[in-house]
Amino acid sequence: MEEFPRIKRLPHYVFATVNDLKAKLRREGEDIIDLGMGNPDLKPAEHIIDKLCESAKKKTTHRYSSSEGIPRLRKAISDYYKRRFDVDLDPNKEAIMTIGSKEGISHLMLAMLSPGDMALVPSPRYPIHYYAPVIAGASVLTVPLPLEGSDEEKQETFLKNIYESYEDSYPEPKVLILNFPNNPTTMTVNLDFFQEIVSFAKKKKMWIIHDFAYADLCFDGYKAPSILQVKNAKDIAVETYSLTKGYSMAGWRVGFVVGNKTLIHNLRRLKSYLDYGTFTPIQVASIIALDSDYSIVEKARDIYSKRLDVLVKGLNRIGWQVEKPKATMFLWAKIPEKFRHLGSVEFSMMLLREAKVAVAPGVGFGEHGEGYVRFAVVENEKRIRQAIRNMKKLFKSQQEVAK
Ligand SMILES: Cc1ncc(COP(=O)(O)O)c(C=O)c1O
Repeated sequence: MEEFPRIKRLPHYVFATVNDLKAKLRREGEDIIDLGMGNPDLKPAEHIIDKLCESAKKKTTHRYSSSEGIPRLRKAISDYYKRRFDVDLDPNKEAIMTIGSKEGISHLMLAMLSPGDMALVPSPRYPIHYYAPVIAGASVLTVPLPLEGSDEEKQETFLKNIYESYEDSYPEPKVLILNFPNNPTTMTVNLDFFQEIVSFAKKKKMWIIHDFAYADLCFDGYKAPSILQVKNAKDIAVETYSLTKGYSMAGWRVGFVVGNKTLIHNLRRLKSYLDYGTFTPIQVASIIALDSDYSIVEKARDIYSKRLDVLVKGLNRIGWQVEKPKATMFLWAKIPEKFRHLGSVEFSMMLLREAKVAVAPGVGFGEHGEGYVRFAVVENEKRIRQAIRNMKKLFKSQQEVAK
């Protein structure tokens, strides 16, 4: 099949290899415990669904909606940022709704970047962080995200890596993409990190896009900072926020870009050509979600936290040394020594074939992810316990083969 130049720059998804095997095994009747994709399995709070239904029954809500988000929704996201992060946003100029944060990031890159521009993107990373600039025709320079050491050491090393990459880059990077709490590595940062990077970016006149998809999934007392909490960060930064994870609304496609007026103005202009926005009843129900008592999010967060406890304890028990992350719905696990030679794709295929457990191979998140796999805790505790038992059996049988 002929592929056009822009499509040729999009390689075949590494995850497709594992997904194809998963589909084949399922067709053969196997029960696969799917910890591969970060696709939330929880249901949004009942009153949010009720509001969606109520609004959908009205005669007036079925016309084209507003691409930038209806004014009451932009006000709700601005109020939410004030309540949660003490950040002031002008709902008309500093907040825009997007069709999930993935669409927001993609179209923001298309609005900002042209061939010849350079984007700095961490590796490992959520794939669209790399491919949105590629689709826009820009060049990408990857910045290694440190995978070993204490939180403070990782932050220090990452800042150093960004400074070095910036100096090595020609032309000078126009934009830096960040994502903390991070998918896939679960790395977190503190406000000092954002302070440093904002002041660097201002000096260099570089934009920052911070993907805050896991803002709500923080455990055991940790609270992730918003980059907009840094004074005047809005001069050069936007943050993307999403109802996908914390509110369990993945399929609803509700995201926001908040912060810098220039970036939001350009995104709004592009989107006004491309789309008519998310279905109005979804926008109306999203206002109810944002205005809700935060306990609805805490409930989901606690479920993911408990599942991670079960997964981490179970893996440690069977000899796979891992630590519980401070945030996200993932466990980023170094492949046990004796299997590391297989590489992350082959190791993931083995887990799938032999233990009926699907995970995401680290290399799918960029070359620096090789040697790791990512577990997403999107199955219940019972199923996670079953996954541990299956892996225990597999590892034991492998040991016996080696004897
Ligand atoms: C880092 C990150 N950003 C964005 C997204 C997509 O979010 P949304 O559903 O809001 O498009 C995900 C989903 O897995 C993610 O992990």
